[in-house]
Amino acid sequence: MTKEELFKTFHNIGLVPVVKIDDASKAEKLAKAMIDGGIPCAEVTFRTEAAEEAIKRMSKAYPEMLIGAGTVINPQLAEKAVMAGAKFIVSPGFNPETVEWCLHHNVPVVPGVATPSEIEKGLSYGLNVLKFFPSEASGGVPMLKDLSGPFSQVKFMTTGGININNLPDYAKASNVLAIGGSWMVKADLIANDQWDEITRLCKEAVIKLQGLSLAHIGLNTPSEKDALDVASQFEKLGMTVNNGNSSVFMNKEIEIMKKMYFGKNGHIGFKCYDVERTAYFFEKQGFTVNKDTVTYDAKGNMKFCYFNEEIGGFAFHIVKG
Ligand code: 3PG
Repeated sequence: MTKEELFKTFHNIGLVPVVKIDDASKAEKLAKAMIDGGIPCAEVTFRTEAAEEAIKRMSKAYPEMLIGAGTVINPQLAEKAVMAGAKFIVSPGFNPETVEWCLHHNVPVVPGVATPSEIEKGLSYGLNVLKFFPSEASGGVPMLKDLSGPFSQVKFMTTGGININNLPDYAKASNVLAIGGSWMVKADLIANDQWDEITRLCKEAVIKLQGLSLAHIGLNTPSEKDALDVASQFEKLGMTVNNGNSSVFMNKEIEIMKKMYFGKNGHIGFKCYDVERTAYFFEKQGFTVNKDTVTYDAKGNMKFCYFNEEIGGFAFHIVKG
């Protein structure tokens, strides 16, 4: 996997659990619990003796999983991690020696930064994906917003003080590539073999990350005349007509199509924080993107797509909202 593919997958999965494991014999069970929870990705930190062996065991049992090493504070640890199977290296701070070792060995590296000067240092090494750490203590989402001005080319993996409650704020930030943290895989949950709870916490985070909500319901009618007839019924209920090119919107909640469009019964529009990420999530649930319907914004980010399947006779699409 190239560095670009790795970072794209980070973006699509969107979550990187930060693991501290004391007993390497639990590594496979932990990996399975995370995969079952929809997060085939982890940063296993070198904060315990078991880290190296855990990386080895997880990588062997689940080669498709993105296992990286965290708390890699020198090149020796980076080498150890890569030998064990780590696919990427993360560090809490910016150690030029570690970064140089990784670049020299073509290993994706995400060093930690918390200031503009450190970001510039990263850029001088050609790195435009950096870890923002410790995120909450360093200013959190407002700081990330301020950094997006001068450093629009940089994307961050953010960790430190993130939990299920402030996760949506990070998910909405345009310069956050992926969100990391230990809350889904807390050391005591691992120590107590609470695999179901880890799976539950991962699932909860994956759902919350999408920010899915109902945008509108779409009704099919065969013509503009029919659409306006239907609209006049809703108008009696106090809704406002907004006559567009291909449909009539009633407020923002009901879209009346001017021709028989997708869906036996019509369609459901969902809002989400990041269309590409949520399309990836829906595909993991067995749905498939209708490629002919994908649209992009000026920056090349996906902003809309339908899926090929129907739910209860309704087609459905997602839109950035
Ligand atoms: C890290 O190394 O990224 C942090 O320890 C994770 O922070 P958290 O424990 O606050 O989630």
